[in-house]
Amino acid sequence: MKRNGFFLTFEGADGSGKSTQARHLAKTLQTRGLDVVLTREPGGSPGAEEIRKLLVEGDPARWSADTEILLFTAARRDHLERTILPALARGAIVISDRFADSTRVYQGAARADLRQSVDQLHQLMISHEPDLTLVFDIDAKIGLSRGLARQSGEDRFEELGAEFQQKLRLGYQALLQDFPERCVAIDGEGTVKQVAEKVLIAVSGHLP
Ligand code: TMP
Repeated sequence: MKRNGFFLTFEGADGSGKSTQARHLAKTLQTRGLDVVLTREPGGSPGAEEIRKLLVEGDPARWSADTEILLFTAARRDHLERTILPALARGAIVISDRFADSTRVYQGAARADLRQSVDQLHQLMISHEPDLTLVFDIDAKIGLSRGLARQSGEDRFEELGAEFQQKLRLGYQALLQDFPERCVAIDGEGTVKQVAEKVLIAVSGHLP
């Protein structure tokens, strides 16, 4: 399928502020009259939202890291087919709160050392990359306390603790080096408005 639109992803550890910023940017661009689809992973299509519940709720030991890779990839494939690619084909800007980089970092580096399996499955079943990825960086302790304070009932990964959040931070730093052509770091410290300004600067020049 031809991609005429623009595919932008927001990445970062839990509580890094990326979801708030994704919503903020989507609203800003929509008020400028642009066709914007704000979506998320795991989820973003009815089937993938069903899989999301299996992944983010319950005991941290509920799934092995290998099984998680399969579930996240199944959800992503449905999200891609039903939401992302049709929107890009009609020329929309798709903003996704997480995409394949989350699997690279969470399952491929932080939770287990499974990057090779993640890459092979990605190549086989997904094979699409974002045009631009903003990677939100925040102190691991601040991120974790923000994430847990939400009491969303979706804390399976936050419950892996501070050491895991620190591994995520390092994993995202390595990702920035792996994909320097599409990944931009955003310092997540500051007020929502201050960070939103950094986001606008990072995306300007890339968007229509
Ligand atoms: P969220 O809290 O940003 O909505 O994401 C749900 C959780 O799922 C979050 O802790 C990150 C985790 N996750 C992975 O471990 N691998 C993935 O591929 C994705 C998309 C999310």
